[in-house]
Amino acid sequence: MPTIFLTGGSGYIGTHTCLTLLNAGFNVIVLDSNINSKKRALKKVLEIYKLSSFNFKNQLFFVEGDIRNENLINEIFEKAKNKKMPINAVLHLAGLKSVRESINNPLEYWDVNVGGSIKLFRCMIKHNCHTIVFSSSATIYGIQEIEDSIKEDGSINPINPYGENKVTIEKILKNIFDGSKENWRIANLRYFNPIGAHSSGLIGEEPRGIPNNIFPYICEVGSGRIDKLQIFGRDWPTRDGTCIRDYIHVMDLAEAHKSALDYLNKKDSEFINLNIGTGIGTSVLELVKTFIKVNECNLNYEFAERREGDSYHLVANNELALQTLNWKPQKNLEDMCRDGWQWQKFNKEFLENTSSINLQKLI
Ligand code: NAD
Ligand code: WQD
Repeated sequence: MPTIFLTGGSGYIGTHTCLTLLNAGFNVIVLDSNINSKKRALKKVLEIYKLSSFNFKNQLFFVEGDIRNENLINEIFEKAKNKKMPINAVLHLAGLKSVRESINNPLEYWDVNVGGSIKLFRCMIKHNCHTIVFSSSATIYGIQEIEDSIKEDGSINPINPYGENKVTIEKILKNIFDGSKENWRIANLRYFNPIGAHSSGLIGEEPRGIPNNIFPYICEVGSGRIDKLQIFGRDWPTRDGTCIRDYIHVMDLAEAHKSALDYLNKKDSEFINLNIGTGIGTSVLELVKTFIKVNECNLNYEFAERREGDSYHLVANNELALQTLNWKPQKNLEDMCRDGWQWQKFNKEFLENTSSINLQKLI
């Protein structure tokens, strides 16, 4: 079975993607510094996976380390080769992702996100691995003043260092693709707004401190840890005055990674940018009301000023992804709200619950 090198595999999207890859039979090597994740997250992935596989421990390897450590990445490629499981492709998710933090600490963001990616790409070249799926973001489209959904060739106009990092990494990958004598296969997945969790409630998003994004914030308010949600703006030119986003279930997003790998594996050479969203716009108020209805809970909220840097309408035109990948989002907003809340409840109750499963070390 092919071996995938999954950077950032202990994080929110990484854990769900890891599970999807294991279920599809891939061997997975995760590199993560755990700067924004818990060590137990991957153990929980194995707890879910072991229900469907006897061999559950032998497919997943974990390396704790930094994406900027080029020696370590080289060692990972070499060890994998020695173990007769050479790395066939990379899924590059490791990075820092807070817009606000990127404004306050731009050097760290350029260093980790762009510097770390360059080191990873150099190691890929050295070890003749030319297939990569990269976690890009809808944030690269910047502030949109249109009500149509956005296509991949829409204007790219990042308005913060985090967004600039993502655009730069996409450009570096294009330079590699254009300039290399080898055939590269590259997919930049531009995620829209991933929310929700695996339906088991065992893995999910676990932001450090007070969340910035709306969905984990709603979960915290629902569970009483935060008093009230502020809805930023009620006078936007939308159907109910609140901003519209394209929320996608994290398991559908995880599946898109597997589909992207399958797609790239069938090509000799490819460079493709793909919007990964549902194509459905949901307002903040609609999200809040669906969450309350599905989970039969209370949610305190109030309206506040518009947030600087917000677009009022950001929805993916996902036609290219639907046509290209053998993929289609399966889950609706109610699933996202239900599964996200399930994780919040489990997470809260069993936060300190450690697992008896030990992760296999590669190094
Ligand atoms: P996350 O923070 O949960 O996961 C990222 C993982 O990378 C974490 O486990 C973190 O510990 C690890 N990491 C950070 N710096 C590292 C370093 N120097 N070396 C090794 N590991 C490091 O975030 P996520 O939501 O799972 O996002 C995954 C990727 O998707 C990121 O690249 C992010 O920019 C991108 N993305 C996320 C969203 C979103 O809304 N969650 C949207 C678009 C794109
Ligand atoms: C969604 C909507 C807010 C919080 C961000 C990043 C983007 C990508 C996804 C990584 C907006 C409103 C929010 C709150 C609110 N991440 N809101 N009250 O801004 O669409 O995208 O996450 O790549 O790069 O920018 O997501 O969840 O912050 O906001 O009313 O307390 O919820 O105004 O309309 P956003 P978000």
